[in-house]
Amino acid sequence: MQQKTTLISTSQFHKDVYKGLTDFPKHLSSKYFYDAKGDKLFQEIMDMPEYYLTNSEFKILDKFKDEICRAFFKDSKEFNLIELGAGDGKKTKILLRHLVAEGIPFQYVPIDISENALIQLEDSINNELPSVRVASLQGTYFETLENLCKMQHKRKVIMFLGSNIGNLLHPQAVEFLMSIQKLMTDDDLLFIGFDQKKDPQTILNAYNDAAGITERFNKNLLARINSELDANFDLNKFLHWEVYDPATGTAKSYLVARENQTVYINGLDLTITFDAWETIHTEISQKYDDNIVSWLADKAGMQISRIFSDENKFYKNYILKK
Ligand code: AVJ
Repeated sequence: MQQKTTLISTSQFHKDVYKGLTDFPKHLSSKYFYDAKGDKLFQEIMDMPEYYLTNSEFKILDKFKDEICRAFFKDSKEFNLIELGAGDGKKTKILLRHLVAEGIPFQYVPIDISENALIQLEDSINNELPSVRVASLQGTYFETLENLCKMQHKRKVIMFLGSNIGNLLHPQAVEFLMSIQKLMTDDDLLFIGFDQKKDPQTILNAYNDAAGITERFNKNLLARINSELDANFDLNKFLHWEVYDPATGTAKSYLVARENQTVYINGLDLTITFDAWETIHTEISQKYDDNIVSWLADKAGMQISRIFSDENKFYKNYILKK
């Protein structure tokens, strides 16, 4: 169960860095932000005043915890509460605490790629909510979810919070939702957060904070290539640049070369040249509205059953069913 995947994922990292930096235009995947340093920077991002997503979702879960937990428990049978990309569980604990207080029987199954994150999460739940049964699973979402479904036939409530789906382009998001849908029965639920379209300036500020934390987060990709692949990126020779297109709802992050430069990646035996103002595309953070979510759900063989919103309508959590 607690199988180490370091070797596989390391070589995948090598391959993806090689492909991304030899492509035109250059790109790197946002999934590689999250090493130990990146995890810490993302924690800092979630605490920033500009990054409204975390607080908005926190408020939704707090305000509607009773309705949400009742929807989860609908047929009075014990269920598995499965969380994809559980992280530190700060928001989830609102629901766990309420489920415990209401005497609702469930088992919590956090799934995360980071074994370290899972150990910390399990420890903190054991301390704060000792009556919650936790069975964490380390691995990628699908391997683990699929294995879980083969193993157990209990009802499932699958949670995917934080608008993490926003890192996917629509076709990938449909594929992702579709593979979850295939593992669901008619009684199962998907509880999922989607950041909403809003004043474009509010969105830009969330990804371009005054303190420069998002810049460090973005540049951590280069820092990681430096340390893991023995490269010599000079982080000062790149700008963090954010764009948001209100027509498509897509926020995009780039690293922009400030001057001509050559970088050597020893671990890949690869020399990369940058022209001045050449870009590396690093992340998309898609924004949604009810129509887009309903369209995505439909394409994936699901439908919206409930919508919960914060007062500003900045962020929404949806219950999807088959
Ligand atoms: C964790 C993917 C939801 O896109 O808003 C935060 C990551 N990137 N600041 C997002 C992120 C820059 C975040 N997600």
